[in-house]
Order: sequence, then structure tokens, then C-alpha cells
Amino acid sequence: MPAGCNDETNEGTTRQKMRPKIGVIGAGIMGTAHGKSIHFCRKVGLIDCDFVALAETDAGRRDGYAAKGGVAWTTDDAHALIASPEVNTVYICTPTHNHKELSAGR
Ligand SMILES: NC(=O)c1ccc[n+]([C@@H]2O[C@H](COP(=O)([O-])OP(=O)(O)OC[C@H]3O[C@@H](n4cnc5c(N)ncnc54)[C@H](O)[C@@H]3O)[C@@H](O)[C@H]2O)c1
Repeated sequence: MPAGCNDETNEGTTRQKMRPKIGVIGAGIMGTAHGKSIHFCRKVGLIDCDFVALAETDAGRRDGYAAKGGVAWTTDDAHALIASPEVNTVYICTPTHNHKELSAGR
């Protein structure tokens, strides 16, 4: 094993780098379902992650989700979420026609 691989400091650093920092795009049926799932998995200790951001173009849905969801920030701009250094894992929960455009974002 290379020197330092089992070092606690290294492991901690790696874990921190690998920790999912999740952004969800779309607060419709699937975005809501995934949001609930993220919260549930966090609560029971199945995943160690941060639910960082939500992008949703519909202001009512965005605000409703933010009010219930415990997400750190929201935006109407999916590309801003994708580009954010605070996010390293993106769930695309928009209608299928824009998946290709959004998944090319980063
Ligand atoms: N509904 C289901 O049972 C189901 C099951 C499996 C897979 N899917 C797939 O999941 C995806 C989402 O489906 P859904 O039923 O949740 O759709 P939905 O219409 O309920 O929600 C989509 C949301 O995305 C938002 N949105 C659209 N473009 C956006 C953009 N550029 N930036 C930010 N927000 C945007 C819309 O305002 C809407 O709130 C689709 O690809 C669908 O095929 C859905």
C-alpha cells in the first residue's frame, strides 16, 4: 500500500472530497420524490451527504420546496447550480427534453 494511504488525515480528506454535495434540478414529481429520499437516507444514516441546492423555474414550486425541504439555497437557473463549486452531484429531474442540454453543463 502506498505511503500515507491508510493515514487518518488522508482518509478524512478523501472522505470529505467524496462526500456528495447534492443539487436537484426540477421540483416536480421526481424532484420532490428524490428530495424526500435524500432527507430520509440522511436521517437514517444511509448516506452522508449535504442537500445543497434546488433549481426550479416555477417560483411557486421553488418556494414551496424551499419552505419544506431543508435545502441550503434555491435558484431559477439550473446552469448556476451545475456550475456551483458547492455542488458535486446533480439530480436532473426536469422533463426529458432538456436532459441532454443540462447534462452537458459541466
Ligand atoms: N413522474 C413519474 O412517475 C416519473 C417516473 C420515472 C421517470 N420520470 C422522469 O423524470 C423526469 C421528470 O418527470 P416529472 O414527472 O418529475 O416532471 P414534472 O413535470 O412533474 O417536473 C419537472 C419540473 O422541472 C421544472 N423545470 C423544467 N425545466 C427546468 C429548468 N431548465 N430548470 C429548472 N427547472 C426546470 C418544471 O418547472 C417542473 O417543476 C422526466 O424525465 C420523466 O420522464 C418520471
